[in-house]
Parts: sequence; structure tokens; C-alpha cells
Amino acid sequence: MNPAPQVGPTGRPLREFPVPAPLTSHGPARIIALCNQKGGVGKTTTTINLAAALAEYGRKVLCVDFDPQGALTAGLGVTSIDVPTVFELLMGKVPETASAIQHSRTKNVDVIPANIDLSAAEIHLVPEVAREHILAKVLRQVANDYDVILIDCQPSLGLLTVNALTASHGVLIPLECEYFALRGVALLIETVNKVRDRLNPAIVVDGILATMYDARTLHSREVMERVVGEFNDIVLDTAITRTVKFPDASVAGQPMTEFAPDHQSAEQYRSVARELVSRGAVA
Ligand SMILES: Nc1ncnc2c1ncn2[C@@H]1O[C@H](COP(=O)(O)OP(=O)(O)OP(=O)(O)O)[C@@H](O)[C@H]1O
Ligand SMILES: [Mg+2]
Repeated sequence: MNPAPQVGPTGRPLREFPVPAPLTSHGPARIIALCNQKGGVGKTTTTINLAAALAEYGRKVLCVDFDPQGALTAGLGVTSIDVPTVFELLMGKVPETASAIQHSRTKNVDVIPANIDLSAAEIHLVPEVAREHILAKVLRQVANDYDVILIDCQPSLGLLTVNALTASHGVLIPLECEYFALRGVALLIETVNKVRDRLNPAIVVDGILATMYDARTLHSREVMERVVGEFNDIVLDTAITRTVKFPDASVAGQPMTEFAPDHQSAEQYRSVARELVSRGAVA
């Protein structure tokens, strides 16, 4: 008798995604917004670690901090003081997008930083013509230099997030494995649908990524079952386990793939990178 196939967190048979073939040339980038209006679900952590994992596979990645808290900027160890940030780019105070780009310490990962100034951007943008398209225009200048651009959104569905969705080809939704997590996702998907109707016909949902998953608890497994029941194939096979290592890595200003390269969660983010390449969401 054959042994029963091993199942992953989604209940589907466990799969290994192939290591992506090296790229022989770079760009134009596919742009992905990391979006969930719920706070603290792993948007920034996913942006940092997915970027670093894709970079390990030779992809050139630009991370855009689109949250005035600046957690992505800090988490990748770059500065937002006395340098042009995404705010100056949106306002047209700095016309060259390239002049706001900084190299992080991680090879092939660049960053456009943000700081608290960005919190004033929505008010400034309201009276602008084509106000939803401003980030798209900013990123168009540098899209040919990268394979992937990841936009780390703030926890809101306001004008900045709409700008991120208008600029993007895909949305990746990190979802914390807890009971109330599902509540906001329908509203988020409705927002994506509106953006598709009115502003950006090409946008698709690339995936829902379960974060802070704990296979030992019935609670996590039940939430996962409901998420898969509701959203099916959109849910990625790979889930990110809950671990206290993440706050430590953030303090060190390093992706987990470098802070603790052999840790299970570093390998899980590499698996997310491979899965997204297999799905065609990333070159
Ligand atoms: N898999 C995980 N296990 C344990 N802690 C995690 C995990 N992923 C992220 N965290 C921690 O949870 C907190 C929130 O994560 P993160 O900042 O990535 O969420 P966010 O969605 O970007 O939050 P915000 O909405 O405030 O921008 C951080 O302290 C982070 O270190
Ligand atoms: Mg964040």
C-alpha cells in the first residue's frame, strides 16, 4: 500500500516549487502591491523577505515604502532622513525617480524610502488631476531596471493604497491566521475590483499568503480551512509560520534570509518566491 500523500497547510498535497532559472536580462518589472487594510498582518515583513528571497534567485527587486510609519525603510536598514523619499516623488518636488532609490545591504534589493511626511500626501493629492495615477507615473521611469517592484502599503484603503493598486499588475494579500482576519478581505477584493473597473483594467489578485500560521493549534488550522474554503486557488500553498525571530530580524534591519538563513521562516519565504514564479506572478 502507498503511504498517504503528505498535505500542506492548505490541505492540498505538499509540493516543492522548482528553483527558478536564472534570468539572462532584466526588466520590465512586474509591479505587486502588498495590501491589507488590517494592521499588523505581515505586509512589511513579507515585502522585505520576499524581496530578499527573489534577490537570492537573481531577480532585481525595488521595494517601495508606501507607509508613513517607514517600517520597510527601517527593516531594510536604509535611511529616510535628509534624502528624497516617495513623498517628494509624488509631489513632483523631485522629478527623477532614480534619485530617491537607495541600495540596501542586500544585493539586488533597492528601496524607495518613506517617512512621516507621507502622511500629508493624501491631502495634497486630492485636488490633483489624475490623482490615482501619480505613483504609476513615478514608477514607470524605473520599471525597466527591475524584474519586480514590491509596494508595501499602509493599513488603509485610502488614496495612497488606490495609487498603489493603480500602479500594480498584481496584489498579494498577507492574511494573519486568526478568526477576524477574513472580515476585511471581501472589502479589499471589492476595492481591487473597483480599481480594475475604473482605473487599471489589468490588475489581478496574485495570491493570499497566510502568515503567523501555527500548525500545532486547532485555531490556525480552522482559519486556514475557512480561507481556502472561501478563496480556493488564490491561497498560496506556502504559509509563513508564527515565530518570534521576525521582530529580532527587524531590529537588526535585515531580512530573515540573511539574519537566520537556515531558519524555517527564511526557507518559507524562499518557497513563496518560487511559488510566485511558478504561478507566473514574477519573471
Ligand atoms: N510570521 C510571523 N511570526 C511572528 N511575528 C511576525 C510574523 N510576521 C510578522 N511578524 C511581526 O508582527 C508585527 C507586524 O508585522 P508587519 O509589520 O510585517 O505587519 P504589517 O501588516 O506591515 O503592519 P502595518 O499594518 O502596521 O504596516 C511585526 O512586529 C513583525 O515582526
Ligand atoms: Mg507595514
